[in-house]
Amino acid sequence: MKILGTGSALPRKTVTNDMLSEFLDTSDEWITTRTGIKSRQIISDERFEEIAALAGQRAIEAAGLVPEDIDFIICHNVCNVYVTPSLASLVQGFLGIKGPNCPTMDLNSACAGFVYGLDICDAFLETGRANRILYICAEEVTRMVDWNQRETCVLFGDGAGAMVLGKGDNYLASTLTSTPMPDVIYYRLPCEPTPYETREGIDTHKAMQLKGREVFRNAVTSAQRDIRDVVAKAGLELKDIDHYLLHQANMRIVDAIKQNFDLPDERFHHNIEYRGNTSSASIPILLDEIVREGKVKRGDLMVFNGFGAGFVTSAAVVRY
Ligand code: ACO
Repeated sequence: MKILGTGSALPRKTVTNDMLSEFLDTSDEWITTRTGIKSRQIISDERFEEIAALAGQRAIEAAGLVPEDIDFIICHNVCNVYVTPSLASLVQGFLGIKGPNCPTMDLNSACAGFVYGLDICDAFLETGRANRILYICAEEVTRMVDWNQRETCVLFGDGAGAMVLGKGDNYLASTLTSTPMPDVIYYRLPCEPTPYETREGIDTHKAMQLKGREVFRNAVTSAQRDIRDVVAKAGLELKDIDHYLLHQANMRIVDAIKQNFDLPDERFHHNIEYRGNTSSASIPILLDEIVREGKVKRGDLMVFNGFGAGFVTSAAVVRY
């Protein structure tokens, strides 16, 4: 597998910490000190599927291709108003890819999903089932939180990161893990009632519930374990990696890992300050930003690392 082009798209509206403190008992000082976040983009008048499709379109253009060149669309998405059809299918329509020879599907592995999806794309490409996959991670996490709950709503932003993937030997190693801990982070949507349902309370709606400290501890521990593991699997050492892109959940998590690895600061990229936590989209948005800023060149080695509800974790080594 090889990354042929990247793209990203964000909602128009930027919300600063001061804007949040107009209706929440919070402050710029608290949010900045505890998370590193100063502002984030939040969906207002645009359609979520359009943002996902725009990120995809930009990735196709960056790869020097046209939509008809794509023969598979895979989206990673935790939540949007459409349970069905898939986001990938909606994106296909927005991009004007007629089909029928461009299958579409969605994946969901929470905030760690970006690398889970890369693994699936790699398998499709390497077994010859696809030649050019459009892979999009798109999230509107801000619609999963209770906006009266300062503990959660200040943390998130919306957006989409995309890439076109083709055949190649640049996916050097990956690590995926899962440990059942559903109480640490969850969000429950209501399903339709049936005349036969007798259980109580199970399907009731619940805005995102988060045990922040537990997530923090698990994230720091798993990131160090997974990064060391995946770099060793690739036959490399930590110092060989040019770029570390970690899931952008909290600047203090990135800082903790950076300190433990004793590597130059500039190898750890971050944009949480002005994007917030965009779940599975955080790494591909960050990648697209540093690619467009000219910080990454062909041949550079990158580590991606994520963690999220489950508890799931993931890491990969990719040559750009
Ligand atoms: N503004 C002001 N005060 C707040 C806010 C807020 N927005 N949120 C919480 N507080 C208060 C709490 O009520 C508490 O007050 P108390 O001491 O009077 O009880 C105090 O601040 C400390 O709260 P903690 O939850 O202990 O704060 P902590 O330092 O752990 O920071 C945070 C919370 C930022 C969520 C942190 O635990 C964290 O980053 N966790 C990991 C990341 C994470 O969970 N991300 C969510 C998504 S999951 C994912 O991406 C996989």
